[in-house]
Amino acid sequence: MKTIKVASIPGDGIGQEVVPAAEEVVKAIAALHGGLSFEFTRFPWSCEYYTETGKMMPDDGLKQLTDFDSIFLGAVGDPRVVPDHISLWGLLLTIRREFEQVINVRPAKLLNGLRSPLVNPNDFDLIVVRENSEGEYSSVGGEIYQGGDQIAIQNAIFSRKGTERAMRYAFELAKKRNKKLTSATKSNGIFHTMPFWDRIFTDVSRDYPDIETDSQHIDALAAFFVTAPHRFDVIVASNLFGDILTDLGAAIMGSVGIAPSANINVNGKYPSMFEPVHGSAPDIAGKGMANPIGQIWTAKMMLDHFGEEELGSALLATIESLLADQITTPDLGGTFSTNEVTNELIARLK
Ligand code: NAI
Ligand code: MG
Repeated sequence: MKTIKVASIPGDGIGQEVVPAAEEVVKAIAALHGGLSFEFTRFPWSCEYYTETGKMMPDDGLKQLTDFDSIFLGAVGDPRVVPDHISLWGLLLTIRREFEQVINVRPAKLLNGLRSPLVNPNDFDLIVVRENSEGEYSSVGGEIYQGGDQIAIQNAIFSRKGTERAMRYAFELAKKRNKKLTSATKSNGIFHTMPFWDRIFTDVSRDYPDIETDSQHIDALAAFFVTAPHRFDVIVASNLFGDILTDLGAAIMGSVGIAPSANINVNGKYPSMFEPVHGSAPDIAGKGMANPIGQIWTAKMMLDHFGEEELGSALLATIESLLADQITTPDLGGTFSTNEVTNELIARLK
């Protein structure tokens, strides 16, 4: 029996609803396989935990997580109780950085049965590889002066090592797909870091002569996502550009509630972390109407990560069969609850 040990952090808001749902699905699919089991260990780290302890996770939190095979996270953030920069940096971003989860992989695909707001979303099937450890999301900078003279400075950090690492990951992925890679840049407006990004893209592309490459400014790229999505296969982007593009990708699929994501530790030193693109959705939390598909598709990425691609494909096909029959939560126009969608999915897996 192959046992995979997963640290489960539901977090805040709808994370508390969709993580248990996805865990049930993973356990059900593993049981069908026979020789595989998933062991989930829950951690209560969240904004509620912060109000009780003054911390998003205990001081030895990372140590507690380090021996797990992977981390399965819902969403973090409850701005009514804890400011977002405290909650995100105190848990999610700390795990991503300290566990060297330097790559964030986010597929976006118009699954069968999904209705896109685009009239003609032909062949919308792409993967964004987002640099996940540096870039625009840095804590370097500061504020000076008071009142009308106040100044805030935020520095973006781009290292050759980090940039090249993200690009190589994206080229390798493109090799396994349709051999096309687009780089998201903005070297016409951002004077230092983006020309640097472009140069490294050109350098790395020399090692991959079989991959067709293209470089697009992020604003135009965003527009082409909407008007000509068939142009894209794999896209490599900096931390901020990748974040924005993937929410757009989710919107094109019909809801941010279905988009999956994986934070990958590429050196094998620490566990990778699987979490959907969406946040804690305070506006619908506790109502039983959160779409569990984002968290469940994220679980599919976790199955793939552990070499269980066949199970992953079966899971995605079952998700598509539900969508085709309109068994969906209200964000996709349906009338079903989180639990009803989950239970029907489990029934169809069997
Ligand atoms: P959000 O993704 O939580 O919500 C945006 C909109 O999408 C809301 O209308 C929400 O109801 C809807 N939505 C999101 N997930 C859904 C689902 N599964 N089913 C149905 N509808 C869904 O983003 P927002 O409102 O900007 O952030 C809320 C909180 O979540 C903040 O504290 C933010 O910092 C945090 N957040 C955390 C993330 C993470 O843990 N990775 C990512 C994004 C936001
Ligand atoms: Mg985002």
